[in-house]
Amino acid sequence: MDSASSSARTVAACVIGGIVLGASVVVLHLGAGPASPSLPPVEALRRRIRRRRRPVRVYMDGCFDMMHYGHCNALRQARALGDELVVGVVSDDEITANKGPPVTPLHERMKMVRAVKWVDDVIPDAPYAITEDFMNKLFNEYNIDYIIHGDDPCLLPDGTDAYALAKKAGRYKQIKRTEGVSTTDIVGRMLLCVRERPVSDNQSHSSLQRQFSHGHGQNIDDSGFGNGTKISHFLPTSRRIVQFSNGRGPGPDSRVVYIDGAFDLFHAGHVEILRLARGLGDFLLVGIHTDQTISSTRGPHRPIMNLHERSLSVLACRYVDEVIIGAPWHISKDMITTFNISLVVHGTIAENMDYTEDDSNPYAAPIAMGIYHKLDSPLDITTSTIIRRIVSNHEAYQKRNEKKEASEKKYYDSKSFVNGE
Ligand SMILES: *[C@@H]1O[C@H](CO)[C@@H](O)[C@H](O)[C@H]1NC(C)=O
Ligand SMILES: *[C@@H]1O[C@H](CO)[C@@H](O)[C@H](O)[C@H]1NC(C)=O
Ligand SMILES: *[C@@H]1O[C@H](CO)[C@@H](O)[C@H](O)[C@H]1NC(C)=O
Repeated sequence: MDSASSSARTVAACVIGGIVLGASVVVLHLGAGPASPSLPPVEALRRRIRRRRRPVRVYMDGCFDMMHYGHCNALRQARALGDELVVGVVSDDEITANKGPPVTPLHERMKMVRAVKWVDDVIPDAPYAITEDFMNKLFNEYNIDYIIHGDDPCLLPDGTDAYALAKKAGRYKQIKRTEGVSTTDIVGRMLLCVRERPVSDNQSHSSLQRQFSHGHGQNIDDSGFGNGTKISHFLPTSRRIVQFSNGRGPGPDSRVVYIDGAFDLFHAGHVEILRLARGLGDFLLVGIHTDQTISSTRGPHRPIMNLHERSLSVLACRYVDEVIIGAPWHISKDMITTFNISLVVHGTIAENMDYTEDDSNPYAAPIAMGIYHKLDSPLDITTSTIIRRIVSNHEAYQKRNEKKEASEKKYYDSKSFVNGE
């Protein structure tokens, strides 16, 4: 039996076993070549398949509102506790009932979660708290072995542990929450950005900030509005970047597609354009502009997320093969040669499209080479859209507040903008 056919059989075994995941498919694909150096991982996988017939399926739930790399990291950790990760995304109604309206509607949150490369399956409209019925459905219909959650306590409004049932059933596993980022923190940064603008309802922004300051985002400096909005405590390590990377370059005959941008507040619009771009080749290289480049084109409070944070969000996306951390604004001919770029693409929906009127079009080189292609952006969302949503979302919070009163104070004091970290 030659190595190619044995690899083919392994592929079949995996599909039957239900282990269909990006990384192993890649390994198996490479393993199909006769001279491949990656046979040991195939061997390891084969041994694992022999050891048990059914893959271990783990479940994690969350709101995933304004998804950031902390969520992605949690999903990565959850996935490492099993072979397949199923993610429950809480419905808009449930979020509204438990913590106020979400900023991102369910269909966008689903798109974001599905695009994370460690996610195998997604359940829409998951309940905010796992009921006995839903838990049995997870175990019996979705064949879930373990329910996963971070080590931060998740208490229901009545003070009980949201994961008590799963713990009692002995089907609960815990991961460590990602330090250094929270939704509260990100909203704080957005407010810095919004406050700079001559907006009419400046007072409500202050109260929005106050409200978020009372969440348990450990990083908020609550001393005042003047300079209180926090600075990120995120310390990027090389290990984290390696954990998020695919760790491989383009294959020998790959068609490399290049797309660049800020990718600030990574959102469903980004996911969709990356999906399209990846479809035009075999390897998607994403250039991520530096913080300085973005500040100079979009204003002093942009980007909201720094270069390393933006890089991690993009790396977590299943359509992305590699990123350039700090890509140049101008794409030179030399760069195209260095990376063997076949096609340079750019979406039609972007925050600053005015560069084309500029003398110094950053895409002049690829345009001259005839390898520049404009992609119709499938979604009409930009980073500014997301920031606007936060502000209007706040108005909904305020209306609710006017109706209820002191009884709500306790709720707001202990509330964080989103769970699932
Ligand atoms: C900002 O708020 C203050 C007081 O809350 C108000 O007097 C002022 O007119 C507001 N500014 C704008 C631009 O609305
Ligand atoms: C921020 O506020 C604190 C007091 O609340 C003050 O001591 C500090 O100098 C301020 N920093 C800046 C950069 O304005
Ligand atoms: C460069 O990309 C082209 C596809 O555009 C591919 O055919 C070629 O093999 C690549 N060159 C190398 C050295 O990988």
